[in-house]
Amino acid sequence: MTMSDRQPAFGRRGFLQRATAGVVGVAALGATAADTAQAAGAVPAGSQPTGSGRVIPFEGPHQAGILTPPQAAASFVSFDVIAQDRAALQDLFGVLTDRIRRLTAGGQVPATDLASAPTDSGTLGPALPSDGLTVTVGVGASLFDDHRYGLAGLRPAKLTAMPVFPDDDMAHSTELHGDLSLQLCADSRDTVTHALRDITRHTRGAIQARWKIDGSHAAPRPTGAPRNHLGFKDGIANPDTTSAAATDALVWTHGGRGGEPAWTEGGSYQVVRIIRMLVEFWDRVSLNEQERMIGRRRDSGAPLDGSAESDVPAYHADPQGLYVPMDAHIRLANPRTPATADQQILRRGYNYERGLDLDGNLDMGLLFCCYQQDVSRQFAAVQARLAGEPLVDYISPTGGGYFFALPGVRGPHDTLASGLLRR
Ligand code: HEM
Repeated sequence: MTMSDRQPAFGRRGFLQRATAGVVGVAALGATAADTAQAAGAVPAGSQPTGSGRVIPFEGPHQAGILTPPQAAASFVSFDVIAQDRAALQDLFGVLTDRIRRLTAGGQVPATDLASAPTDSGTLGPALPSDGLTVTVGVGASLFDDHRYGLAGLRPAKLTAMPVFPDDDMAHSTELHGDLSLQLCADSRDTVTHALRDITRHTRGAIQARWKIDGSHAAPRPTGAPRNHLGFKDGIANPDTTSAAATDALVWTHGGRGGEPAWTEGGSYQVVRIIRMLVEFWDRVSLNEQERMIGRRRDSGAPLDGSAESDVPAYHADPQGLYVPMDAHIRLANPRTPATADQQILRRGYNYERGLDLDGNLDMGLLFCCYQQDVSRQFAAVQARLAGEPLVDYISPTGGGYFFALPGVRGPHDTLASGLLRR
């Protein structure tokens, strides 16, 4: 039995014990090859991690997983924080930092003595691949209440619980909000699941999962952006993530500006929406009507006034909507006018599919995710314009939440939320 098995409550003492056990237990993960060989005597010689060798750096002014082009597999998980007090909350972010740093680097799993629970779930074998893993941590408005952790005065200025929008179907949803969110993405599904399992194991007693949804991206068919479950290419038009000017203006929050607390520098507002697609219904709609609803050709992804996916629609030359209808999704979402330029969002969504509903219909849709500097100026403004668009008859938003993705971890001695929880 491990210490974490014996410790049901996440008091400060119990947590520290478990955190230490966790750190000791994975000492070889992320260590040098020589350290690893020494620590992990039982690992077969020459055992190499499988999966992609991509390492996405964990440290930096911003968290990974925001500008990172979407990997193939993702899980979005929301948690209640149940840490006993502020010190335990601080410990939680310390352990999260440590686990994410190690998991994203990959490395050998240390040997386990036969009398103890294994130090790792073993689902990726004895050598953990880095596999393009990113784990992006966000906090919800509820973490900033006035009775648990004394954070009420430090809430990011625009962070609220996600409001209900027209056409939302969330009255009975169990997949809403949360104190803390994890967005885990990697090049393979089992790497995502392994990371989540590792993190929940090491944070047991401090966070309790509330809801979870898995997403995936298929390879482009045939080229360009991948397709969503409506058959359309999705993820074509986005702000230029290679331009610091664009990301500074549209993605990152700036502490001290616009009422934002200083600690928010380098963070970003994250919106997650679980949007079911009524695909049986959609599949009976004519291609022409489908394309006019979206504003793009289904096969090529080209805007209806263009011929290639990368063509930029020229709405000024089509003021009556003869080519791209005025109520087409892309035209409402981004009218491309000077007045709406600062409302652009960075979309980073995934497809989801999870079996059948009680009526035998396919339960699949878009795990919509976007990042932005100001959730009210950007996502909420775009969502308001989309209210009543023709597409709403074929989709049904059923859950999600607003979160604030924390600033990045700036060096080996920094931790997630260090600015927020500075003692
Ligand atoms: C299931 C629901 C949705 C579907 C099926 C959908 C589908 C699409 C498709 C096919 C495109 C065109 C390809 C592209 O540029 O990536 C697109 C673009 C876009 N969508 Fe959505 N979308 C959905 C929900 C949303 C939501 C909730 C928002 C924001 C509130 C949104 C905002 C945008 C934006 C900003 C663009 C780019 C427009 C441009 O810059 O030209 N979408 N969407």
